[in-house]
Amino acid sequence: MSPTPVEFDPDFIAEHSASDQQIYLAETKSKEPMASVLANNPEIYFVPPQRKSDWGKWEFKPGAYYDTTIGSKHSHWRDVDLPQPSRDIHQLRRDLLRWGYCKVADALSAEQIATMRERVLQQAEGERLAGIAQRTPSGQNINCCVNKGRCFELFIEQHPSIAQGGPLVEQLVTEALGPGWICTSLIAAISLRGGVPQALHQDQSNALDSRSPMTVNVLTPITDVDETTGGTLLIPGSHTVLSEAVREGKPVGKLPPAINLDAKAGTMVITDGRLLHGTGINHTDQPRIVMLNGMQKSWMRQQENWMLSVRSEVLERASAKLLHRMGYQATTGTQTNEGHGFGAQGLVDEVAGALVAFRLAADRGEYERVGELSSESSDQELNAAFTLRDVVGTARQGGVSAPVGIGNKGIR
Ligand SMILES: [Fe+2]
Repeated sequence: MSPTPVEFDPDFIAEHSASDQQIYLAETKSKEPMASVLANNPEIYFVPPQRKSDWGKWEFKPGAYYDTTIGSKHSHWRDVDLPQPSRDIHQLRRDLLRWGYCKVADALSAEQIATMRERVLQQAEGERLAGIAQRTPSGQNINCCVNKGRCFELFIEQHPSIAQGGPLVEQLVTEALGPGWICTSLIAAISLRGGVPQALHQDQSNALDSRSPMTVNVLTPITDVDETTGGTLLIPGSHTVLSEAVREGKPVGKLPPAINLDAKAGTMVITDGRLLHGTGINHTDQPRIVMLNGMQKSWMRQQENWMLSVRSEVLERASAKLLHRMGYQATTGTQTNEGHGFGAQGLVDEVAGALVAFRLAADRGEYERVGELSSESSDQELNAAFTLRDVVGTARQGGVSAPVGIGNKGIR
């Protein structure tokens, strides 16, 4: 055996990879913009959770980012034209651009709110009784809601039957992210008395120098939120301050103070993924519920692993739109399955990139993957009922279900 060239030796590589020799190091190792945000805004520092006994005491850390109030009561913000609940698409656009969030008024009707609230509270209780409640420092989260009620399936689609304002929200999300966006997760976030606030953060990766958001989070309170019930903490306009600092390679200076979001149940609050925000403190005995429904560019990894986690019953009845939103439509560059999806554009109901048949075959225990083949392979190996044959056969027939076994001919 010939010796391996020395240039491939890990020690040799390390010797020739000093910090000043590496490419793109300043960008890939940068802690900005949060490093300068924290350095120049010490009140934003998150105190570690072992001090939980101190949360909820207003006098604990005066000036702390979470010790705040709603915009209209805040001395810094009360005379500023912050976003108000609206159904005026032009106003909503202006708010989202300028402040990094906008409030779509009455996006859920009273009946739709009641449906969602009932299901969330029932599920939360069920998960507690089952001993699998997912506790958070703020209270309890219900993850992967899509498996836990028909209303959530429809909610991810922003279907008017569960969110009457869905079409308006979708238009704004499409303008923010461009066509083809998908959903990252749907979580019900429940804040309870005694819970701690969340550190202020950006949902979208910090160091991205983007002129428009890569992610958008649609926050839907289904209980009223304000300064007492744990309204989301946010710094209006921080999305542009932080992204401009990154673009110009400069530190972030002094930021304006955080406020609590105030919104009635049923408002859909669209937030830019670059906005600094975090969960507020619930000072009441009533659970505070906000649905967190993030949207993103289709090429980013999603928060929820829908490929594995969605129940087969849900997949079988899912609309083409819901499947697309969960990432079940491949594009050439994303999520191709054994090569199926090359050439696809990631459109709703596009057979050339449809993936759900693979998952359902796996669920039935019938997913036959293509493994090692060669000129020595037997006829039986070459004629195996590869799932890929069925899926590609279906796609070639324009999406009509292929008879079992189509294309099972060997290729010899
Ligand atoms: Fe967040």
